[in-house]
Amino acid sequence: MHGTDHTARCNCHLADEAATLDFGAQLGRELTPGLCLYLEGDLGAGKTTLVRGMLRALGHAGRVKSPTYTLAETYELPRFELYHFDLYRMHDPREWLDAGFRDIGGDAVSLIEWPEKAAGWLPEPDVILRLEIDEAGRTADCRAVTPEGARFLEASCARS
Ligand SMILES: Nc1ncnc2c1ncn2[C@@H]1O[C@H](COP(=O)(O)OP(=O)(O)OP(=O)(O)O)[C@@H](O)[C@H]1O
Ligand SMILES: [Mg+2]
Repeated sequence: MHGTDHTARCNCHLADEAATLDFGAQLGRELTPGLCLYLEGDLGAGKTTLVRGMLRALGHAGRVKSPTYTLAETYELPRFELYHFDLYRMHDPREWLDAGFRDIGGDAVSLIEWPEKAAGWLPEPDVILRLEIDEAGRTADCRAVTPEGARFLEASCARS
């Protein structure tokens, strides 16, 4: 979709893990309170690696665990709280509500791996970011679905 809003989308090739971490850092620096990003892509596509890059750029020095078993990890960052979800093991979208996640959003940033597992129950995303495995690395396709998401992509992807 070129023309009317060229900033609403961005694609890039990520040659190796370091490139995914760098791209994550680029995105992380532009995150603002309240943004919700869906992180799509197959098992092993690099979603958690991207989150790791974001968190490092936001000053988190500790580990970034994959929340595959816990569903969520919370990070208290200087500028906002960040929730990292991995819903792969969620069998029934109601688990989302049972786990007390209904009230997330607000000023927190939400990064959600496997959002399709709780389709219809999640906050609407500002950006849908899809990672694909290709023969030599990964490709990332980011699409904004709100004006806030478009602003974020414009700020973070304009240089890539
Ligand atoms: N651009 C890249 N090129 C090659 N390998 C990469 C790239 N980015 C990440 N990886 C590697 O892919 C593997 C899986 O990454 P990661 O755990 O981030 O995937 P994931 O999408 O979170 O998977 P899951 O759905 O299981 O949570 C890791 O070993 C990571 O180093
Ligand atoms: Mg993961």
